[in-house]
Amino acid sequence: MSIKEYNAERDFQAVARIWKECGWIEDDKEVAALKDFLEEGDTLVATLNGEAECVVHGTPGTVRYLEEELKLGAVASVNTSHIVRKLGFAKKLAARLLSRQANAGMDVSALGIFDQGFYDRLGFGTGSYENWVNFDPATLTVDYPFRPPRRLSAENYRDLHSAMMGRSKKHGDVNLDAASAFKAEMLWTEKPFGFGYYDGPGGSLSHFIWGEAKDEYGPYVITCRAYQTRDQLLELLALIKSLADQVTQIGMIEFAEIQMQDLLRKPFRTRRASAKGKFEQIISTSAYWQFRILNLESCLSKTHLSGPAVKFNLQLSDPVEKHLENPQKWSGLSGEYIIELGEESSAKPGQSKALPTLKASINAFSRMWFGVRPASSLAITDQLEGDQALIDSLDTVLRLPRPHFGWDF
Ligand SMILES: CC(C)(COP(=O)(O)OP(=O)(O)OC[C@H]1O[C@@H](n2cnc3c(N)ncnc32)[C@H](O)[C@@H]1OP(=O)(O)O)[C@@H](O)C(=O)NCCC(=O)NCCS
Repeated sequence: MSIKEYNAERDFQAVARIWKECGWIEDDKEVAALKDFLEEGDTLVATLNGEAECVVHGTPGTVRYLEEELKLGAVASVNTSHIVRKLGFAKKLAARLLSRQANAGMDVSALGIFDQGFYDRLGFGTGSYENWVNFDPATLTVDYPFRPPRRLSAENYRDLHSAMMGRSKKHGDVNLDAASAFKAEMLWTEKPFGFGYYDGPGGSLSHFIWGEAKDEYGPYVITCRAYQTRDQLLELLALIKSLADQVTQIGMIEFAEIQMQDLLRKPFRTRRASAKGKFEQIISTSAYWQFRILNLESCLSKTHLSGPAVKFNLQLSDPVEKHLENPQKWSGLSGEYIIELGEESSAKPGQSKALPTLKASINAFSRMWFGVRPASSLAITDQLEGDQALIDSLDTVLRLPRPHFGWDF
């Protein structure tokens, strides 16, 4: 196996073959959109006999941490062909991508998972639960005037991408810079629909919904949406409600700002009546994205917390180092640090006898710092241990809103 930077002319056909084998693309149109997907960002291939058999693609962006913007290296795809599975190709290639992201100045990395466990080996920790809401738009109680939207198609991808980048910001929100990859995602949408309003500065797209219209009566699945204000969110809900004479089910990730159940009429009665049916109305949950710190010093210098300050020794383990071949400039974050968390926070190499000690994997530490779960919870289920007084003070200083990306990738 040898690792190389992707070269479109040399590698595209082999990469398209890998994606086809994985069942991610089928026809020529979908293959063409793969070119858009790979156009911007950092792509690596691992070759066997000179042909790409494994490919990873990273793409730059930002993630919100309270009022700060962190530099994000998103891992947008990891694929291994059918002939080199379970030989360590994916782990080694993804580890190399992380090393390159760290060297390029990224603070954190994130990805969507196919299952829990695999990316843990690269130091990723599981993110927040996301609520998936299947609801009948006729049961929406939103009372907001409906206004005819404009139709949107993949040709409007720049408008949608700009609206995503300009949407309202809260803790955890992700923005991805590559408009071309956004276009690819739109082109890959089956039976697409898109509606939006051009109320932004200079008549730009301000709020929209985009997704798959699976069947005459639904489910319609909203895969992407953006809005900047409370009124725009309510207008989108009014738009969804306007489809109710025909569409029986809408499925989507809950808008992170609100509890959708607040806006549904008799949700338990509807759930009972639709149970196990084609249009089951139910809210289900799973944690399908993962996240890790790449640059501890930088992340902590951007951490401003309102609780009482805490200072401690951190003994950090990082499993990624096992998968990095040859000495790399960045080879994970294993080591000993003195951490301060408070209004001004920091991470410095060293240990002090006067301070309590926290032992943690980078996976668990990233989760705690991002606000996915408090220290006391991770001390039960993840690799994080310290004395009770330290755990209690970490719980107090890290009282963060639960992070949600608001952008699937
Ligand atoms: C996922 C995928 C990229 C792995 O590729 P690969 O090159 O075979 O992976 P590696 O050889 O580096 O690692 C395989 C190891 O991970 C393990 N693994 C796989 N899923 C796991 C899980 N959920 N939890 C823990 N370990 C897991 C395997 O058992 C194997 O273990 P071993 O090293 O002890 O034998 C490949 O199966 C693939 O392309 N799948 C289809 C596309 C896909 O889902 N991509 C991921 C998108 S998030």
